[in-house]
Amino acid sequence: MTKPSILTDTFGRTHNYLRISLTERCNLRCTYCMPADGIKLSPKKHIMTYEEIYTIAKEFVSIGVTKIRLTGGEPLVRKDAARIIEKLASLPVELTLTTNGVIVDKFIEHFKKCKIKTLNISLDSLDTAKNKEITRRSYFEKVYQNIILLVKEGFLVKVNCVLMKGFNDDEIIDFINISKELPIQVRFIEFMPFDGNQWNMDKLVPLQDILSEVHSNFKKEEIIKLEDAANDTTKSYQIKGYEGTFAIISSVTNPFCDGCNRIRLTANGQVKNCLFSSKESDLLTPLRSGKSITSIIQKTILSKSKIRNGMDTLDKFSQSDMHNNRSMITIGG
Ligand code: 5AD
Ligand code: SF4
Repeated sequence: MTKPSILTDTFGRTHNYLRISLTERCNLRCTYCMPADGIKLSPKKHIMTYEEIYTIAKEFVSIGVTKIRLTGGEPLVRKDAARIIEKLASLPVELTLTTNGVIVDKFIEHFKKCKIKTLNISLDSLDTAKNKEITRRSYFEKVYQNIILLVKEGFLVKVNCVLMKGFNDDEIIDFINISKELPIQVRFIEFMPFDGNQWNMDKLVPLQDILSEVHSNFKKEEIIKLEDAANDTTKSYQIKGYEGTFAIISSVTNPFCDGCNRIRLTANGQVKNCLFSSKESDLLTPLRSGKSITSIIQKTILSKSKIRNGMDTLDKFSQSDMHNNRSMITIGG
């Protein structure tokens, strides 16, 4: 148990993991992330600059953050992404990224220099046509080759696959089978509601269904349950003899808020205490006017709800109006 700090909420959870969205832009258009007609981008002057990102991150580190994940949109499409990564790597934190993998090959040497060891890559179908349907772009081969390249270069790759009923739930076993030869972690994520992503309960592939599919394709003794760390969002498994592993992230049917240690900073400098909270606290304006942001961070942490911004039951969650929440593209997962 960590000592209480500015980052500790009223339920005793210490938020030592900061996720920073570098940009609202992306080179893909995943349907579950972005509304069909796009999003209204924040004006450029409202987006944190390189210096502001560093100043805010440094403040978080000084009060106890030990892990930073860069997200987007697609973090690597930001022009000064390499410079930001390098600067943040100078802080005493574990630095990592969530990316769609389209241009990661251009950053391999840079990642190594910045001591980045793990990367999360989004990939929702192993079928070229379906991949195009979901991302509204044609980069499947490129992303798949980049995953293989990253593994070859010694990175630990986690592949994020958002499951949607009738779309890619027939690929669960195919995804697990790519972990036979590749030492990656495949992560099945329950589809979550965000502004404009046409979510409904019928499209959800719940944890239980994923496990039944696994059990009808592998023998009981082949399915090994792995241990999960306290703050892990995942339930992890391995098929006996496979190089890699797979895991399930069940934010909808089985929220893991008890161990939540995440705090989010959007590209326009708003801090969010929960993925599902529509309330945000502005850090950028006070920072620009020379004010201290520590008390704002503390207030945000103290106002955090116990479970999913108050939507503690599945009923409340599925009936809630997530239209007040941002699109995922501007939160970054
Ligand atoms: N539901 C679940 N996961 C999502 N992601 C994006 N949108 C959703 C959603 N609606 C995940 C993607 C990506 C990460 C940034 O967030 O898998 O890898
Ligand atoms: Fe881009 Fe990732 Fe959103 Fe897809 S899920 S549109 S890759 S930010």
